[in-house]
Amino acid sequence: MAETRHALTLRARAAHVVATVLAGRALDAALDEDRAQHGRHGLVEELVIGTVRHTPRLLAAATPLLKRPFRKADQDLQALILIGLYQARFMATPTPVAVSEAVAATEALGKPWAKAVVNAVLRAAAKGDASARDDLNHPEWLVARLKAAWPDAWRSILAANDERAPLTLRVDTKRIARTEYLQRLASAGVSAHAHPLVGTAVVLDHGTQVPGLPGFGEGLVSVQDAAAQLAAPLLAAGAGDAVLDACAAPGGKTGHIAQSAPEAHVTAVDNDPARVARLRQTVERLGCGARIRVLTQDLVSDTLADLFQRILIDAPCSATGVIRRHPDIKLHRRASDLPPLRLAQARLLDRLWQNLTPGGTMVYATCSVLPEENEDQILEFLERTPDAREEPWSFGAGRCGRAGWQFLPGEAGMDGFYYARLVRRP
Ligand SMILES: C[S@@+](CC[C@H](N)C(=O)[O-])C[C@H]1O[C@@H](n2cnc3c(N)ncnc32)[C@H](O)[C@@H]1O
Repeated sequence: MAETRHALTLRARAAHVVATVLAGRALDAALDEDRAQHGRHGLVEELVIGTVRHTPRLLAAATPLLKRPFRKADQDLQALILIGLYQARFMATPTPVAVSEAVAATEALGKPWAKAVVNAVLRAAAKGDASARDDLNHPEWLVARLKAAWPDAWRSILAANDERAPLTLRVDTKRIARTEYLQRLASAGVSAHAHPLVGTAVVLDHGTQVPGLPGFGEGLVSVQDAAAQLAAPLLAAGAGDAVLDACAAPGGKTGHIAQSAPEAHVTAVDNDPARVARLRQTVERLGCGARIRVLTQDLVSDTLADLFQRILIDAPCSATGVIRRHPDIKLHRRASDLPPLRLAQARLLDRLWQNLTPGGTMVYATCSVLPEENEDQILEFLERTPDAREEPWSFGAGRCGRAGWQFLPGEAGMDGFYYARLVRRP
């Protein structure tokens, strides 16, 4: 009996988090708040993340069955229905069980009056067609742009977005060889394998609690997608180089740059104070905090006086390449977000180019799959910047467009990512 009550509370918790995300809150922030209040729980995480991942198609199945929409104050009931439907369709929970759990959870939400409607809608929705089309699970504007940009790959992008992303670690190979770290994982009972293309990357075969991983506290490993692990090698900072990591927080790439070039002078800048605080924690854990100058500054409106031999711009972007990690992007991102993002990216390129020494290298990166933020942005930059040239590079996955290198989500198990390497003529 106690166990049943516990499970109901978990479902009510999940409904509350999902309702908050549907109301506009970022998934990570909503989950963090729930964890801080109640502690992390695997079932809550699964129900919340899975339901958010499939929300558009779950809503398409459930909404037409409602006589009228739920009031704003009752969005948790709508979330409860979506969660029940997610369980029935994607967690192999028998429909009668999913329905009865959702109905019972109305009590835990303090809304027992809603039992009948939750029961009726969920039962009818679960009977509906479960083979929903992939494009029903993404906003129309995004599907249209993906079709135009990637006529041969848009379907696989949508399918990859609906999958769970693997948990990938970056090993500080200056301190421990990847094979040795894999042995440490095996001794700790954690099953993992080496990424086939990225020499620092280890992919865990199952999700796990990251802080408990061997060596995590000492900074031997960081959580970082394999595509993101290519930024520091592309930048190729050397001893004595002044390096600017613009748009640096929460510091994943700053840490990698500082660890791989211990003799470089790294400056990390971001305009978001809360994220800068996380960056400081990251580089402290990695043991390189003392070597990094950290600034909280807006690089679109403020000027930096210094010159750098290497500059990384990991630009603010639509994040359309990391939907599998952050499925709420599908719910929150609008087509109207694109023009201001494009403008900020162009300004960052133009302004920071003035901080690059002649002969220096700038790496421009995004986690977007939209050409307007990637190769179009770089082609326009090259056209208006006579002393810039692209330094081509290639890799065993992804594709070369008219400028830069694009990874689509899921290719070689990696996130969707874009890189262009630019050199300032001496
Ligand atoms: C893609 S994230 C960076 C991720 C980071 N490089 C990492 O690997 O952990 C982009 C960052 O750009 C920052 N940003 C956006 N506009 C900015 C601006 N005008 N000046 C400085 N930073 C900015 C955001 O706060 C955000 O942290």
